[in-house]
This record gives sequence, C-alpha cells and structure tokens, in this order.
Amino acid sequence: MSQTFTDDKSTAELTIPVASADACCAEETSCTEPSVVLSTKPVPSNLDKHVYIETFGCQMNKSDSEHMFGLLEEIGYAATDDLKIADLMILNTCAIRGGAEDKVYSYLGHWRKITRDRPDTLIAVGGCVAQDEGENLFERSPAVDIVFGTHNLHRLPDLVLQARNTGKRVVEIIQELPEDLPETPVIRMNDTTAWVSIIYGCDYNCTYCIVPYVRGREKSRSPESIAREMEELAASGYKEVTLLGQNVTAYGHDLDPQIHLGDLIRQVGGISGIKRIRFLTGHPRDLNPEIIDAVAEVDSACEYFHLPIQAGDDRTLRRMARGYKVDFYKRIVDQIRTRIPDAAITSDIIAGFPGETEEEFLNSVRLVEEIGFDACNTAAYSPRNHTPSANWPDQIPHEVKQERLRFLNMAVSESSHKCNQKLLNTVQELLVEGRSTRNPERLTGRTRTNKLVNFAGDEKLIGQLVNVKIQSANPWALRGELA
Ligand code: 5AD
Ligand code: SF4
Repeated sequence: MSQTFTDDKSTAELTIPVASADACCAEETSCTEPSVVLSTKPVPSNLDKHVYIETFGCQMNKSDSEHMFGLLEEIGYAATDDLKIADLMILNTCAIRGGAEDKVYSYLGHWRKITRDRPDTLIAVGGCVAQDEGENLFERSPAVDIVFGTHNLHRLPDLVLQARNTGKRVVEIIQELPEDLPETPVIRMNDTTAWVSIIYGCDYNCTYCIVPYVRGREKSRSPESIAREMEELAASGYKEVTLLGQNVTAYGHDLDPQIHLGDLIRQVGGISGIKRIRFLTGHPRDLNPEIIDAVAEVDSACEYFHLPIQAGDDRTLRRMARGYKVDFYKRIVDQIRTRIPDAAITSDIIAGFPGETEEEFLNSVRLVEEIGFDACNTAAYSPRNHTPSANWPDQIPHEVKQERLRFLNMAVSESSHKCNQKLLNTVQELLVEGRSTRNPERLTGRTRTNKLVNFAGDEKLIGQLVNVKIQSANPWALRGELA
C-alpha cells in the first residue's frame, strides 16, 4: 500500500531535498525522489472505514497528516491510498503561495465529481487554507462537509463523527492552540525517519508571509514531551528524527525555564538508537552560537543548516522586515563553517519581491554564488492575503518574476553542482530510505548533510546506515557504490 503526498510539479521553482523521503519543503517542487510509503505496520482489525489524505505544503503539514491518520484510526478509519474506497477524503492544504491555494479548489472540483454517486463519502478540508477561509470554503466548494483549522487537529475525530451523525456540514476554526498541547496519536508514513514537532507558529512578521496569520504565535513543546516521543521512536527502530517547526531556532523562549534549541539538541542528542537529528526550519536572527556549538558537539546532530535568507540585498531584506542585513547572514555562515567545516548550508530565496530592482535581484544571484549554497528553495513572489506587501503598488509583472526565477535557479543549480562534486570519491554515511522511484534497481538514502544518494544494494539495507563511495554528482543527487 503506498501513499503519495502529491506536490505540484511546477518546473519553475526549485525545492531542495530535505529530510523526508519525498523531500519537499515548500509546496511547489521540482523534486521527484521517492514518494512516501504508508506505514508497513499491521492495520488493526477493528477498522471498518477508510480515510484518504492528500497533503500539500511543508513538513509541518505532512507531519500533521500523520497525526490525522493516528487520530482517525481511533474512530475506525484505516489509511488508504485508493480514493475509490475512501469513506473520508481529506485535503490538508497550504496557503504559502497562490499556486498552492488554487490547487485546493481544483482538487475539490475533482473530488466533487468522483463522489457524486457516493453520498456517504465525507470530504474534509484542513490546514492553512482552511484556517484562512473557514466556512467560505462551503460556498466555493459545495461538496465540502467538514472544515477544520491548524490549531484544532485533535478535534478531527469529533468533527467527523458529528458530520456523520447529523448529516450536516461542520466547521471549526480556532485562533490559538490549546494552552496544554494535546499529545495526539500518529501513524508515520516512513519507518526510518520521523518528524517531531517542537514549536508551532511564528512570531515574525515578514511582509510577504501568511504563515503567522494561519499558524499563529510561537508555542514550544516541553523538552520532556519531545524526549518521550523520541524515546518511543528509538524503541520502534527509528534512526533519524527531524525536529520541526515554522521557526525552530526560536524554540524554548516561551518555556519556563527558558531554554534554546542548543539545549534541546543536547538533551535529546543522547537518546540511544537515534543516530541523526536535524532541525527545520529556522530564522538566521535566532541561530545563536550555542546552537552551532551543540550541532558541532553532539554526535547525532547532523551537519546541516537550512537557513532561509530570502534575498541577497539589504534594501529588499529591510522591506521584507527580515531583521538582518546580508553581512549578518554571511557572518553566521562563517561561524558555521569555522566550527563545522563540512556543514551543508541550504536556504530559501524569493524572486521578484515588490519593488525589487534588477540590480537588487542580481544581488541575490551573486549571494548564491558567494555563499555557495548546497541547495535552495526558490520561488517567485506571490501576493498573499493579510500580508502588507500584497498591497504595495510596485508589484513585479508575472513574466519578469518568472524570468528572474529561471535565472536564479541556474545559479542555484550551479552552486549545488559544485558542492556535490566536492563529495566525489569520498565515503559518506547514508541512512537508506527505500528504493529509488526512478530506478527500482537502486536504493536511495541521505547523507548526514541531507544529500540524496542512489546506489545498488540489497533491499535488506533499507533502514540501515551504510557507507557509500560517491562516484558521480549532479546538482540534485549523487550516485555511489557500497564501500
Ligand atoms: N511568495 C513567495 N514565496 C514565499 N515564501 C513565503 N511566503 C512567500 C510568498 N508570499 C517562501 C519563503 C519561505 C518558504 C517556506 O516559502 O522563501 O521561506
Ligand atoms: Fe504552507 Fe506555511 Fe502552511 Fe506549511 S505552514 S503548509 S508552508 S502555509
């Protein structure tokens, strides 16, 4: 049984391979490596209904979907990847760019058609678009039965039962997470690497970004609860954990006593069995030297930093309200590279922010070359509701944004290629994630620096750490042989 978390295959935007099996951070991606496979654990026999979930967007959303599967199993729903047998179909939506939102309505149009003669099939919409649109979704998409937001996932079973029992539409959107974060059950889509949310929401107000609006204020989980989850993961055989949040580098500032991400890495870094810890995604302003030290000193912490810069130009950064200048970012990169010379550094960059001049855009391109990023998620600026920059008069025409994006992508590919070529003839430790989707004869895994490597090997290596000698490199992936 397999479940594909579909992402738009927009060719214009690049998405770096991140720590999940299907490897897509932002919602529009050119990454096509392995799709996620539904858990191989036995399905309990008391499940008499089926739920299908289509997930758009970031790892937080993918992780949320795993919790939806867990919650729904408790009321008798088994996960399926077959829409034809689904009694409940859920769209877990992303609002970060217009394209992702448009996709929601085209999926709902399709689902409406295929459920026309299945009156008992329920359609639910959750995630960021649901949080933003609430009951407007009923008007735009008459087939929708349930709308729930990003702060009340734990209520999904009740909402489903309510819709089932009353035959009426149900909407529940709340504006904040509950005071005591509920620990929700989870069915993980991958048996090797797992996501663990450590902080929800974002307190920054970047002028382009809808995330603070749809995900709310920062709220950290307690280190004890995180450690408990990771111990359970270790006991179930997981070797890799990605600590997740919209702004993980802010972790712990709201806890009593206050701690920071570096403390957390040290606390959970020694959990026996978890060989690799990563964190996604952070803000350069919050990446303090203690976090870099923790990554350098804790064996399981991977030498991998995803630090979105967004633009390589001071005036643009100021108008984005990022709170740092290019020089500040470069100093952080220097600190990381001085302390951890082999660290991979990846980023996010937006092309065509309102008012961005040609010269300012070229500063972003130059920065990619100068920093030598291992990879970057790139995107054309997309005006979003509730964000100040959406109303600015100096919007960049669509064609210009696309042209800039193409140019930026060329610089990113070149930079990734150079970084990957540095690994030729080295031996890298891989965590083997599964068969390559492009060539099932090969296995695929990731280095500690999060690079995708394909190699020939026996299926029994899936889930294991192996050493592979790198033989060839392209901008997106490496190829090697067992060492
Ligand atoms: N337009 C384009 N890209 C955006 N991002 C966030 N908001 C927008 C927007 N309005 C990008 C940023 C962020 C990533 C997750 O998505 O680069 O880091
Ligand atoms: Fe998309 Fe942001 Fe929501 Fe993730 S948090 S799904 S990137 S809008």
